[in-house]
Amino acid sequence: MNLSLALPPAPTVIHRADYQPPAWLVPEVTLTFNLGVEQTRVVAALKVRRNGQSQTLRLNGDGIAAEAVLVDGQPTNDWRMDGADLLVELPGESHEVSITTAISPVANTQLMGLYASNGMLCTQCEAEGFRRITFFPDRPDVLSVYTVHMQGSKDLFPVLLSNGNCTQQGEGPGAGMHNATWHDPWPKPSYLFALVAGDLVANQDTFTTMSGRKVDLGIWVREGDQDRTHHAMQALKDSMKWDEETFGREYDLDLFNIVAVSDFNMGAMENKGLNVFNTRYILADAETATDLDYDGIEGVVAHEYFHNWSGNRITCRDWFQLSLKEGFTVLRDQLFSQDMGSAAVKRIEDVRVLRAAQFPEDSGPLAHPIRPDSYQEISNFYTATVYNKGAEVIRMMRTLVGPERFRAGTDLYFDRHDGEAATCEDFVKAIEDGAGIDLGQFRLWYSQAGTPRVTARLDHADGVATLTLAQSIPPTPGQGEKQPMVIPLRIALFDPASGTHQGEQLIVLDRAEMQFAFPGFARRPVLSLGRGFSAPVAIDAEISDEDLVFLAAHDDDPFARYEALQQLIVKHLLAVLDGALTDAALEAGRGAIAAAFAAVVGDRALDDLMRGELMILPGEGYLADQLLVADPGAIRKAREGLKAYLGRSLEAGLLALHDRASAVPYALSAEARGARKVKTQALALLAAGVPQRAADLAAAQFDAADNMTDRQGALMVLAGLETPLRQEKLAAFLARHAGDPLVIDKWFSLQAGSLHPQALDHVKALAGHPDFTMTNPNRVRALYMAAAVNPGVFHVASGEGYRMIGELVRALDPINPQTAARFIAPLGRWRRIEPLRAALMKAELERIVAQPGLSKDTFEQASKSLG
Ligand code: TRP
Ligand code: ZN
Repeated sequence: MNLSLALPPAPTVIHRADYQPPAWLVPEVTLTFNLGVEQTRVVAALKVRRNGQSQTLRLNGDGIAAEAVLVDGQPTNDWRMDGADLLVELPGESHEVSITTAISPVANTQLMGLYASNGMLCTQCEAEGFRRITFFPDRPDVLSVYTVHMQGSKDLFPVLLSNGNCTQQGEGPGAGMHNATWHDPWPKPSYLFALVAGDLVANQDTFTTMSGRKVDLGIWVREGDQDRTHHAMQALKDSMKWDEETFGREYDLDLFNIVAVSDFNMGAMENKGLNVFNTRYILADAETATDLDYDGIEGVVAHEYFHNWSGNRITCRDWFQLSLKEGFTVLRDQLFSQDMGSAAVKRIEDVRVLRAAQFPEDSGPLAHPIRPDSYQEISNFYTATVYNKGAEVIRMMRTLVGPERFRAGTDLYFDRHDGEAATCEDFVKAIEDGAGIDLGQFRLWYSQAGTPRVTARLDHADGVATLTLAQSIPPTPGQGEKQPMVIPLRIALFDPASGTHQGEQLIVLDRAEMQFAFPGFARRPVLSLGRGFSAPVAIDAEISDEDLVFLAAHDDDPFARYEALQQLIVKHLLAVLDGALTDAALEAGRGAIAAAFAAVVGDRALDDLMRGELMILPGEGYLADQLLVADPGAIRKAREGLKAYLGRSLEAGLLALHDRASAVPYALSAEARGARKVKTQALALLAAGVPQRAADLAAAQFDAADNMTDRQGALMVLAGLETPLRQEKLAAFLARHAGDPLVIDKWFSLQAGSLHPQALDHVKALAGHPDFTMTNPNRVRALYMAAAVNPGVFHVASGEGYRMIGELVRALDPINPQTAARFIAPLGRWRRIEPLRAALMKAELERIVAQPGLSKDTFEQASKSLG
């Protein structure tokens, strides 16, 4: 008996240290596509040039076979397969290699390579999808000039798009066919190739660049969706202008196209001159999109546009450098959104995302540095660490040198590396040289994983305040011992009597322990530390509730104000969870929080967007992350208990707030958006405290709604309550929005994410709903990701939630491994969950790795989560 058959696949691990320059370059490539949904034939003609000693040209492939191979125009048999790769022996310095492949877009459920979505054809090549289309050195340091010929049915594919400029369009070959040629003058790696063919219509506009060039802009969607593209178009034009003003970056083609597709693994893709977007990040109108959706569209449109310089003009040498383009581009889109709306609220939201998604990653089995050292499947490294922590790391550089010197650094970076495939080290060096700063020790942020923990204590004696800071970085997989990092901390010391401070300072913690003395304080000041969230660290400050209440009311840094209130709540809930609180202490703690909330609800100086932000309690995941071993059931109970208390004790104020906000008519202004935000936040608290009252109010908000924000907010609250109104409004919503997939996604996800005690049963039933499908990632995420991050579903004590996600992973893996692998992380948290649940979670992971034929994607995540 062959025992190895029963074992999981032996993983191939790719190491950053093993990087070798490509043996052959491909200065030019011509692709010819004969398009069909069932079958597409591709001829790839590669001009190759030797770049070293090897005569062997390695062309990567994945699930494709060569129908013909030609070298210098002659058919040849002088090639062989090595696994999925095709190897050709070439004697000379340069040759032309031409290969024919046939692929089936309709059979491509992975959505990598060329696939069909609603009858249209489109591509997704990052990171390694191009090799599913044709054989090629599919690595980001091989840059080529692309010419693309496309031909296909005029009927099925009236629109033919690719990167760059359209240089030719014509009839034929044959009846009912047409063709087009596209040429992209900018050398690019294969992951930026894109092609789209389908029945599409465009919202067209123009933008004139800073040097006076006119660029034609097109957002391509299905007939009927044009009216929902205006917000995306405005975001695109705003992004183009902002990048010129803020980073000196001008667009470099005559054309910029965006296509929206409904089947897409991620948010969007920055293909040169032809961005491809998930429809959810393009389509919006008041009837179907929430204010958050509008923000998401603005941010993602900007993100992909900004990649034109941070990603495309300067790309990555290898995939270990992913944060070079993603971290930097996330920072750029964050700064853009800060400038377009409320900077304070945007910063708080970005920190909330970091804490909800990245901190748990950094403290779990999948922790990795922003520049990883090894991987099995690169798709698994499109993570909150590479993206969001990567952005925080570059933001810290900016904080250390200030915006002007930072700009000098990025100018140098763009100038020095334009046209290259660069490394993270190249970026740091350019900031060092351009901004004039030594980032020697700072580079540890690229190599060390784990969220640094900073402890802080403020002493006061003889008119001097002394701040004692210490840092430690917890061990992460493969990294036991850590060195002290460079941690920039913006601080202010408040005079408690006047409520003011003498100006903010930047201090830098770069040793294990340090003291900073601040003379001139007759009274003990109140410490405001880590203002603006100046470093991606967890701060443990010895600070009294009284000081937190003071900061929550007086801090002039909006993030610090938010943070003080969050800290007050976190401390209280952790004490509740500890079980050691006396009734009197419980009452006092709740009372202090209620008083702070009452101040927030009633503070006339606050704008509603910020008020709404302050009314959001720390998330269950973030609370769990504060504990070595968490009991998710207890966390839910404690948090909902506090919400109920706030809802009851602040009922009158919340009702008045809801009433006032309900009078504000629909608009996209900050005022009107703020009004909608506080309305739903008020409902959420009331729902916990006075459910009957809240149900009626939510139903009224639902019925009166003339926009999706109000309608969805009300329905979300109703979905968590045991009231006949729940079913009634859910049914009304479904009927109203039948046939609009993005809205049906909301319908699934608000039920899966609800606080209803039977939410797990609801999810199970929804899996059998006629509108549910496993082949659309948006729909799968709408139901199951919402469930996996809802502790009331995922962590039910019986383990049924784990089983459900485990079954999902096993069923989805053969269809779409990239999406399946994303569901491993919640199960991978088992070491930080109480033992009964932990054992059930672990058993589910074991069942997953035992599945025969598991994808690399899922195997890597599941095996690392067990290991
Ligand atoms: N580069 C894309 C972005 O951040 C990410 C992306 C889109 C992606 N589609 C993908 C990554 C598919 C991996 C696989 O904007
Ligand atoms: Zn990106």
